Amino acid sequence: MTRIFSGIKPTGHMTLGNYLGAVRQWVAADQEPDDALFCVVDLHALTVEHEPARVRRLSRQAATLLIAAGLDPRRCTLFVQSHVDEHTRLAYLLECTATDGELRRMIQYREKAAKAQAAGDGVRLSLLTYPVLMAADILAYGAGEVPVGDDQRQHVELTRDLAVRFNQRYGHTFTVPQATHPAVAARVMDLQDPTSKMGKSHENGAGIVYLLDEPEVVRRKVMRAVTDSGDGAVVHDRETRPGVANLLDILAACTGGDPAALAEGYSGYGALKRDVADAVVELLRPLRQRHAELAADPAQVDEVLREGAERARGLARPVVDRAYEAIGLLRP
Ligand code: TYM
Repeated sequence: MTRIFSGIKPTGHMTLGNYLGAVRQWVAADQEPDDALFCVVDLHALTVEHEPARVRRLSRQAATLLIAAGLDPRRCTLFVQSHVDEHTRLAYLLECTATDGELRRMIQYREKAAKAQAAGDGVRLSLLTYPVLMAADILAYGAGEVPVGDDQRQHVELTRDLAVRFNQRYGHTFTVPQATHPAVAARVMDLQDPTSKMGKSHENGAGIVYLLDEPEVVRRKVMRAVTDSGDGAVVHDRETRPGVANLLDILAACTGGDPAALAEGYSGYGALKRDVADAVVELLRPLRQRHAELAADPAQVDEVLREGAERARGLARPVVDRAYEAIGLLRP
């Protein structure tokens, strides 16, 4: 069975983009504890300006939401990255495998570094090395598949390059993983700015649906979504009508239809928005309920994370030890 690994950063409240682009695929995967690993990647949250208490709070909230979304702790391994030292141990060896040039080419680095500079903040060195830590997350477990949204394509590509390079130089050590993306909604766009990704930390929350938004808030955000000027026709064209295409993608992802075919059923934006709002509210209803139950007992979630970290450590340690040996380090 192909082992799958994926992760989510606790940098903000979880969004509909995270859910449709990634988390839903995790829940749908056939799960066995050793073959499905899902990680709250808290170390990645430290690469940009952060508030310590908030990162801690969002880490537990992310784990709680993942269980609420349907990850069954008996059938997968759910854990927090910083609980398993093997990630940072391996990241150093991969820093000795990656080059400065290939990291500076990463699109997300360039965007986030520009944003940090514009805000007058220094660019943390860890922002540059972030994709190497991400590669370590994946390679430490010999994962074959990485279910992610479209924006992680380049990072998984780098992970593959590093695995191949390491294997060629030092002997076969790592499985070369592959990214998988959902057929629709691999890139959910901001409702107010449909040419940019719906991201946890976008400045303006009005275009972002958070999984824990109240139903009225979800409805308001969807009804106020920016649609395209022009003749008001509902067609699925991401180039010329990104706002409408995004709504159709969301509807298709929620109801299981095809976005272009769904477009034919609408003659105006109002009805489309109402159906999208209903579909999203219904999709999130059970998740919100389950989250409320779980959040009342944080000790239960902490216990899941403790057991998950223990299992993850057991899987990662032999792989990382092998890499230490292969690269030429004298072992104790
Ligand atoms: P993060 O935390 O930004 O996002 C978590 C997952 O959600 C997907 N996603 C989206 N999909 C569709 N539309 C959107 N608007 C949208 N926004 C986010 C992301 O593609 C991702 O799959 N670097 C990763 C975290 C990470 C990781 C890993 C992932 C660290 N190590 C190892 C996989 C394997 C990130 O920043 O995801």
